[in-house]
Amino acid sequence: MATKISTCIPFLLSLTFTFAALTSSTTETDILLTFKSSIKDPSNSLSTWSPASPDHHCNWTGITCSAPPSATVTGVNLQSFNLSGEISASICQLPKLTILDLADNLFNQPIPLQLSACTSLETLNLSNNLIWGTIPDQISRFKSLKVVDLSRNHVEGRIPEAIGGLINLRTLNLGSNLLSGNVPSAFENLTELVYLDLSQNSYLVSEIPSGIGKLEKLEQILLQSSGFYGQVPDSVVGLQSLVILDLSQNNLSGVFPQKFGSSLKNLVSFDVSQNKLLGSFPEGLCNPKGLINLSLHTNSFDGTLPSTSIDQCLNLERFQVQNNGFSGDFPDGLWSLSKIKLIRAENNRFSGRIPDSISEAAQLEQVQIDNNSFSSEIPAALGSVKTLYRFSASLNDLYGELPPSFCDSPVMSIMNLSHNSLSGPIPQLKNCRKLVSLSLAENSLTGEIPASLANLPVLTYLDLSNNNLTGSIPQGLQNLKLALFNVSYNRLSGRVPPALISGLPASFMEGNPNLCGPGLPTPCSDELARGHNHNRHSAVAFALITISFGVVILLVAAGIFTYHRSFHRKAQKGGWHSVFFYPLRITEQDLIMAMNEKSAMGSGGGAYGRVYAVTLPSGELVAVKKLVNIGNQSSKSLKAEVKTLAKIRHKNIVKVLGFCHSDESIFLIYEHLEKRSLGDMIKRPDFLLQWSSRLRIAIGVAQGLAYLHKDYIPHLLHRNVKSNNILLDADCEPKLTDFGLDRVVGETAFQSTIASEYAPSCYIPPEHGYSKRATEQMDVYSYGVVLLELISGRQAEQDCSGGGDFVDILKWVRRKINIANGAIQVLDPKISNSSQQEMLAALDIALCCTSAAPEKRPSMYEVVRALQSLSTRRVQIPETAEEPDDVPV
Ligand SMILES: *[C@@H]1O[C@H](CO)[C@@H](O)[C@H](O)[C@H]1NC(C)=O
Ligand SMILES: *[C@@H]1O[C@H](CO)[C@@H](O)[C@H](O)[C@H]1NC(C)=O
Ligand SMILES: *[C@@H]1O[C@H](CO)[C@@H](O)[C@H](O)[C@H]1NC(C)=O
Ligand SMILES: *[C@@H]1O[C@H](CO)[C@@H](O)[C@H](O)[C@H]1NC(C)=O
Ligand SMILES: *[C@@H]1O[C@H](CO)[C@@H](O)[C@H](O)[C@H]1NC(C)=O
Ligand SMILES: *[C@@H]1O[C@H](CO)[C@@H](O)[C@H](O)[C@H]1NC(C)=O
Ligand SMILES: *[C@@H]1O[C@H](CO)[C@@H](O)[C@H](O)[C@H]1NC(C)=O
Ligand SMILES: *[C@@H]1O[C@H](CO)[C@@H](O)[C@H](O)[C@H]1NC(C)=O
Ligand SMILES: *[C@@H]1O[C@H](CO)[C@@H](O)[C@H](O)[C@H]1NC(C)=O
Repeated sequence: MATKISTCIPFLLSLTFTFAALTSSTTETDILLTFKSSIKDPSNSLSTWSPASPDHHCNWTGITCSAPPSATVTGVNLQSFNLSGEISASICQLPKLTILDLADNLFNQPIPLQLSACTSLETLNLSNNLIWGTIPDQISRFKSLKVVDLSRNHVEGRIPEAIGGLINLRTLNLGSNLLSGNVPSAFENLTELVYLDLSQNSYLVSEIPSGIGKLEKLEQILLQSSGFYGQVPDSVVGLQSLVILDLSQNNLSGVFPQKFGSSLKNLVSFDVSQNKLLGSFPEGLCNPKGLINLSLHTNSFDGTLPSTSIDQCLNLERFQVQNNGFSGDFPDGLWSLSKIKLIRAENNRFSGRIPDSISEAAQLEQVQIDNNSFSSEIPAALGSVKTLYRFSASLNDLYGELPPSFCDSPVMSIMNLSHNSLSGPIPQLKNCRKLVSLSLAENSLTGEIPASLANLPVLTYLDLSNNNLTGSIPQGLQNLKLALFNVSYNRLSGRVPPALISGLPASFMEGNPNLCGPGLPTPCSDELARGHNHNRHSAVAFALITISFGVVILLVAAGIFTYHRSFHRKAQKGGWHSVFFYPLRITEQDLIMAMNEKSAMGSGGGAYGRVYAVTLPSGELVAVKKLVNIGNQSSKSLKAEVKTLAKIRHKNIVKVLGFCHSDESIFLIYEHLEKRSLGDMIKRPDFLLQWSSRLRIAIGVAQGLAYLHKDYIPHLLHRNVKSNNILLDADCEPKLTDFGLDRVVGETAFQSTIASEYAPSCYIPPEHGYSKRATEQMDVYSYGVVLLELISGRQAEQDCSGGGDFVDILKWVRRKINIANGAIQVLDPKISNSSQQEMLAALDIALCCTSAAPEKRPSMYEVVRALQSLSTRRVQIPETAEEPDDVPV
């Protein structure tokens, strides 16, 4: 018997073992399936969680198991699966579950207290769900938890004292919730806490608990953008392990604690910006030489000098104290820290200097100390900080001359030294080839504007106003992509380079009585005459070239036609191909024959070629626009592009009916409108249109553009908005034509056409010269010019009778509005005073649209809304698009 039993034991044992393994395995599978059964999983992300699954449950989505052979579930990680439903406590039957991560889902319920039954649970991540309700006292039941993340939910109410019961907590993130009230003192019981985030709880109204200083393991304190008020407890800045301290955007006040202890040893980021903090920082703070007299000068010195003081601040990368009321000398030591990247102290009352030791800050990237009382020279060493890309120290008391190297950092992008007391000349800038913005306004700089500025390829904002600069404006500057060029109130003289004056407000030049040029109070008479003749000559030359080019093309085309008398439109032979989106019933020959001087519309035609009115055999009229085919578009892509244009259906956009093309030419066929263009109308001396009609035109054009920009797929740019391209139908409803030609002829051809034909056009925005690609804002600008034409009744470009002085409307308007009551003088005197208010409001819109800085211009939709609010008439909804089909002819 005994032997029997003993022989049986191994068998029994092995049997039990297998059974145990089996049960535990099935059980865990079942537990998981039960947990899944209460969850809604619309994307079927948990498809592997299935009894039929061939996989072991440890291999199911999101499951982590301990190492085999035990292979028990230790982690369930179901982040970002769009899960909702109920978080069931059944999961707590997993005996070894330590991590439950359900972040980034749609669980919509109170804090799942039932999970406190998970006795091994250490990490609970419910961040970014729809958890609501308060934190109940029972939260303290989660004894085992080390990491709790409830951030980005809708948890509300007070944080209970009971939170102090979670004595094992290392990470507590309650950020971005709706917590309110006072933060309980029980926080000081969380002595294991390393990471505390109570940020973005704008309803919290609390002092920072003074006991926080007892949490000596704290490495990160994130309390930004909440409602913390009162003083910063001394103990906060005494925490030794602190790496990140962010108290920014609260309501903290009072004098900032002086007792920086060894908290500075590990500190990487210090941010107390946007509070109401006062006082000064201790002298010698962050002094790298270890010469620290920390706290010694304060009354509250408690006798303990920081033991590791020599290492202080060595890890500091970000120091942000901007927008407070700090005063006293800015800590010198900060300027030479080897790891410092960011110093922001603007809008305080700091005094002090920028020392030469800044050269040791070899990683410094960004300095903003505007609006303080820094008083020193600009250190010559500034240029040796090769990582510095922003240096902004406006509104201080900096004095002396700019050192030649001040802008030598090869990555320098923004430099603002305006509103200081700098004197002497502006050095030649050669090395900061990434410089985008340079402001030296409101100093006492003398000498000439350095010509080397013209060699800075991306310089866009240049403000040298209110100095004592002399000499002339370097010609080279007009090659830059300047969106802002302000040299007002200096003592500059001579001729302003023409490209600088067009498109920039005249106010940027004012206060320089000796500057001359078109649009300025003083014209340069001699130069003007010469410039005009030159223009006239080139115009004549250009016209000749165009004509001869046109003749050649006509001859070639005629040749082709005589040769291929009997081609068929779709036959793809004979060099001509046609695609009609409407049944036009006309042959190419007939079309070409019909395009002669008699049928040419308008004077001189559009920008790319002339437009002809052609009568179809049916008696209907169509407009045909002739373009030069540079030939870089294949027939197929040409068809695709024109089709894109032809599909547009909007009441304010002319319909494209079809096109035909040879290797040399493209004829675009548009619907014909009875009246002529807005441009032709404004040009007439008897132009008389009441304001309501003008407003209607303005709104219509804006709607058409808004449709192209935003509603139509693909989004299109017009790229040639001008009054000549706005046709009016019999009811004065405007229709845009000539749009999207860049797509038809190709960008290169379009650009070269612009370069030759567009030259002195005030419809072109200032950034045209430098912007790499066309933008909506460019259309908005051109639209603004059209709006000015409607408001003033003046042509955008017109030869003033007599003098031959080329005055464009924008300069004219800008000069007018600079004087008192000038705006009213801009309005078309032929319109009755009763419309004055509306017209002035429209003028404001037009000025926004034509602002020199593209980012200041509104979108076309904003323009539509603004104009509609001026008009009481009902707005018509754009017709919906319908797909045009190729109609075989
Ligand atoms: C999980 O799958 C891998 C291969 O896909 C396999 O090697 C492993 O044994 C599986 N684990 C379990 C516990 O079944
Ligand atoms: C979650 O839903 C969003 C929006 O419905 C969807 O874009 C996303 O792909 C979904 N994610 C998953 C993992 O199914
Ligand atoms: C919780 O999950 C979110 C989303 O992935 C993550 O950003 C966060 O770091 C996690 N929290 C913790 C404490 O690990
Ligand atoms: C915090 O600790 C103190 C002293 O150890 C204890 O009296 C108090 O009950 C604790 N508070 C909480 C909420 O656990
Ligand atoms: C900041 O505190 C002041 C009183 O110190 C209070 O009047 C003010 O409402 C608070 N502001 C905010 C945003 O909490
Ligand atoms: C520290 O204090 C001593 C004596 O008061 C003084 O001589 C020294 O200049 C101070 N050092 C700094 C860096 O302030
Ligand atoms: C300069 O800072 C003060 C606070 O120190 C603030 O009141 C003022 O508005 C700031 N000035 C500018 C121009 O930002
Ligand atoms: C330069 O500083 C002045 C004063 O603070 C400010 O008004 C201006 O906008 C700044 N210029 C640029 C380009 O940042
Ligand atoms: C400019 O120079 C003149 C003459 O040297 C001087 O009177 C004036 O104060 C200077 N202006 C400024 C702003 O420095």
